[in-house]
Amino acid sequence: MKKYQLFLCLLGLNVSIASAQDKHIDKRVDSLLRLMSLKEKIGQLNQYSGRELTGPVSNRKDELLKDIKAGMVGSMLNVKGVKDTRAIQAVALQSRLKIPLLFSLDVVHGYKTVFPVPLAEAASWNMDAIRQSAHIAAKEAAASGIHWTFAPMVDIARDPRWGRVMEGAGEDPYLGSAIARARILGFQGEKLGGTDALMACVKHFAAYGAAFAGRDYNPVDMSEQMLHEVYLPPFKAAADAGVATFMNSFNTLNGIPATASTYLQRDILKKDWNYKGFVVSDWGSVREMIPWGFAQNLADASEFAITAGSDMDMESGAYIGELENLVKSGKVKPALIDDAVKRILYKKFELGLFDDPYKFSDFKREELVMKDPEHARIARAVATQSIVLLKNEKNLLPLNAGIKKIALIGPLVKAKADLASTWTVYADTANMTNVYDGLQQKLGNKVELSYAKGCELNDTVSTGFNLAVKTAEAADVVLMVLGEAGDMTGEAKSRANIDLPGRQEALFNAVKATGKKVIVVLMAGRPLVFNAIAEKADAIVYAFWLGAEAGNALADVLSGAENPSGKLPLTFPRSLGQIPLFYNHANTGRPVTKPGDIRYKSAYIDAPNSPLYAFGYGLSYTSFEYSALNIAQEVIKKGESLKLSFKSGGDQKRGKSEAEF
Ligand code: BGC
Repeated sequence: MKKYQLFLCLLGLNVSIASAQDKHIDKRVDSLLRLMSLKEKIGQLNQYSGRELTGPVSNRKDELLKDIKAGMVGSMLNVKGVKDTRAIQAVALQSRLKIPLLFSLDVVHGYKTVFPVPLAEAASWNMDAIRQSAHIAAKEAAASGIHWTFAPMVDIARDPRWGRVMEGAGEDPYLGSAIARARILGFQGEKLGGTDALMACVKHFAAYGAAFAGRDYNPVDMSEQMLHEVYLPPFKAAADAGVATFMNSFNTLNGIPATASTYLQRDILKKDWNYKGFVVSDWGSVREMIPWGFAQNLADASEFAITAGSDMDMESGAYIGELENLVKSGKVKPALIDDAVKRILYKKFELGLFDDPYKFSDFKREELVMKDPEHARIARAVATQSIVLLKNEKNLLPLNAGIKKIALIGPLVKAKADLASTWTVYADTANMTNVYDGLQQKLGNKVELSYAKGCELNDTVSTGFNLAVKTAEAADVVLMVLGEAGDMTGEAKSRANIDLPGRQEALFNAVKATGKKVIVVLMAGRPLVFNAIAEKADAIVYAFWLGAEAGNALADVLSGAENPSGKLPLTFPRSLGQIPLFYNHANTGRPVTKPGDIRYKSAYIDAPNSPLYAFGYGLSYTSFEYSALNIAQEVIKKGESLKLSFKSGGDQKRGKSEAEF
């Protein structure tokens, strides 16, 4: 009892210290605001990209520096490194009120140390690993002058044609919410202001993942129920976890650009959820209201965006050019500007930038943190847990001791830069471990490795097939590494076909025709359709993009040093026509109740209804079947509050979930 009372006392103490700090910051914000001119206030709402400042000389450089010096810029994105951030902060400190800049960057899956892409990490279903990965990314970036990352991306994604599925946590609102929380706690560390922490920015608010036909930047139309049950929960989880900022999205939602949506940003976020952080627009999304046909000009677009609660304008140059006139003409109330500015200044105070504007830009710390060998070790462990074993006929894996010669075949065997995929900002791609090197280091002299590329990723010819077949024939077992190019997913990377590009499937068929046992490792930022391989390969490992330690992690799993434990975070379709295909869809009045009896039932007449692999599916080497359901239940036991929305326990084997298929 006493212990409990003490705990309550301490808790009370903590809360009162925190609210005293809040009040202290509020006071500082208010007194600064009183000193600011309207122009200076609008300057705080303006964010520019700094590529021009640090990259090759451009015409914009002088203009940008002039604006920063005049206090017309609140934040810069795409400036990194202690040297550059210090130099540009020094310019901001020459402005009248010396308000420091916020430096922001897309630190999505690692900074210098490249971790698996978020979709791969989601396959680990391991919140501790995900949190650790985000924390290391934050540590490295925060040592390099960055204050703010544009992550995590928590858009629910049910359409693998959409290139941005690689940035999220897949199709499930429950898993997506748990991962949103883990990433935010990882990025933001114990407390904002720590030099091992970044402000996180949950994005893209909202429903961006539901773009028509999986085509990026397309409109979104959905019911209220779908929005609230499926697309909003990860954002709510992020707000509850204390995420510092929100980013709105490029899409329209039921006809209204998200950037102009009062419903999303004011009614739901700032009122219902009582959110106190600030909202940044997506890149140019204020300006894009014009081609959407929603605003006639930049002035209207600015009025709509600020009224709807979009606080900071990323790279539209809209607020800085239009808001002053809009306030003077009475179209925008000064209180709206003050509210947005206060939210932004609050974060600058919370980070401690007014006390030390160079707090995150320390040459010594930058050097030390980047060299920490622990980061690669953790990246390898996280990558290992992100690998999903999809098929393992006759326990071909792990590679047994009798194997003397392995033929490594395929365009991705020796790939390095691809392993980083997209959204890496500082990756040292020359130092990434590919599959060939990883296996060689792991197996040493005990096993001979031979190699044939077979074809390029996107080839139209089969000239390399003969050598590949000969190489396969001379080996005990074949390991093929196939997939997409690393940059075939990400923003603006929608695909109308999600099969293996080029001649890769034909290469697989030619190699398989030798009669050798074939293990296929597939690398991609999305689910691919690969029916022939699923049918004929002896073992299949889905690796997504595993980052700098990909080769080592795969060697750990293939050799049996580690037991594969990844589970699919989204459903793999058999054909494009099934998309969108996800496990928790609503019932139909005409379900297929007897296998094969599809007359007047909800079914395709030319293809099965069932997926190639179901959400939550993944094998391990032990006989113990650790299903996604077990894992989710454990997460719940640990105190997570959301209810799991599995329709049925289902048979986790090969695309079966009893309620639906
Ligand atoms: C993307 C955002 C990203 C921003 C800044 C936009 O094109 O949609 O996710 O954070 O650029 O790089």
